[in-house]
Amino acid sequence: MIKFQLDTFDVSKSVSQVIVITLKNKSENYNLPTGISQKIDKLITDKENGFFTLYDKDTIKLVSVFAKNESAVVNDSEEIRLFGAAVFKALESEKIEKVQLLGFSEGFSICERALFLEGMSLAQYRFDKYKKKKTKPSLTTVYLEKSAVVSGEIEALHNLVKAVSFAKDLVNEPLNYLNALQFSELAVKMAEECGFTTEVFDKAKIQELNMGGLLGVNQGSDTPPTFNIFTHKPADAVNKKPLVLVGKGVMFDTGGYSLKTGNYMLDMKTDMAGAAAVLATMMAISSNKLPYYVIGLVPATDNKISANALVVDDIITISDGTTVEVQNTDAEGRLVLADALAFAKQFKPELVIDLATLTGAAAAITGSFGIAMAGNNKSEMANLKTSGDSVYERLMEVPMWREFEELLKSEIADLKNIGGSIGGVSTAAKFLEHFTDYNWIHLDIAGPASVKTNKGYMQVGGTGVGVRLLYDFIQTRIRLQSVPNK
Ligand code: BES
Ligand code: ZN
Ligand code: ZN
Repeated sequence: MIKFQLDTFDVSKSVSQVIVITLKNKSENYNLPTGISQKIDKLITDKENGFFTLYDKDTIKLVSVFAKNESAVVNDSEEIRLFGAAVFKALESEKIEKVQLLGFSEGFSICERALFLEGMSLAQYRFDKYKKKKTKPSLTTVYLEKSAVVSGEIEALHNLVKAVSFAKDLVNEPLNYLNALQFSELAVKMAEECGFTTEVFDKAKIQELNMGGLLGVNQGSDTPPTFNIFTHKPADAVNKKPLVLVGKGVMFDTGGYSLKTGNYMLDMKTDMAGAAAVLATMMAISSNKLPYYVIGLVPATDNKISANALVVDDIITISDGTTVEVQNTDAEGRLVLADALAFAKQFKPELVIDLATLTGAAAAITGSFGIAMAGNNKSEMANLKTSGDSVYERLMEVPMWREFEELLKSEIADLKNIGGSIGGVSTAAKFLEHFTDYNWIHLDIAGPASVKTNKGYMQVGGTGVGVRLLYDFIQTRIRLQSVPNK
């Protein structure tokens, strides 16, 4: 990962310089530092993100111009992240190893500088573990003026981006390298590294707890399921009741006997993106020692076929005693989540947020551009939405009308696991709601969990969606709850 070094400038030949000029609007003129304009060797322009000039002579390598877009207030922060990513890519394409940022502090506020570095840092991710020929990123160090950022923030950003990258890795790993057992092993390792605790329930314990949803989905698999509990409970936590995060950990989704056909099965290694987001968020908050009590729950299994696999019409019993008539074995996410949501009740949580690649219907609404949200607490949803806007993981609320619940009525069991042809995101959410007795938000991340093209700071494959969102949400809660008399 790029090292951001807070060093006073020591202009040596080995270190190139980047000059960032910021303009208030696109029509404004920019002034190149004196003496530089004669040195132009090469010119690269990027209409979307600014203006890049590459100099091969001396130590000046890049001048880039960022014109602030004053009309789009909400998107401004994202524009700065994208600008950071674009500068990173320009430097990479020139195979530059070390840079120092000049003129960076003049036009950008402290917050804007952090966004720029975030974009730069997120952009460096690559997944070439399975390539024989690996390409190392060239850029290793970015030097910054001491006053450019708050020093602790650099470390915090590093840990956050590391966690997001880890979530991307987890999503990009295929089933034959990352099954439920391997996920748990990795989680234990990361917990030791970052400082949170883990408890992993094996199949026997899961059976003892009567987690019929998780066991039912696992019936078709050779790999036993795991149920993972992550705890971050610092002594200085500002909250008494925990925030509980639940992640869908379907390590691969074939659909089961309701088999996915054609191309629909492709990429279903992504079906554990919720689990990845929960684990990575635990990593980020514990390595940055956020004073907040958070529990993560991940039911993990793959959804496969064997002689023992669930068939439609089977009836299973969730750990809270609710019976479910399985009408489609491909609606498996809600079955494993049901056990986890029921399990969460014992913690008397202040709020539970689940993240799941739950429905194609959500992906059809949001594409990769945002997250479909439902829940039972408007003010908490509004808070999360604010975080979504700040980190550009935007949330779109879907209705929780009671009519959707009626679609889940079964003739012979308490519920059936599909609602029919309409309102797929809402019926899935209504199914989950049945297992909650607390403040709860459901995030269907089927759309943004992975992307098919490189864009900005996203790379083909896993996006790590949810990690920055939850991190910002938790940070904001700490800020608000730390205010005296609040
Ligand atoms: N994992 C899928 C949802 C999904 C689809 C995630 C596309 C990412 C991209 C989920 O388990 C599923 O198959 N859902 C079904 C539910 C249906 C049978 C009610 C779906 O969306 O088709
Ligand atoms: Zn499915
Ligand atoms: Zn699934």
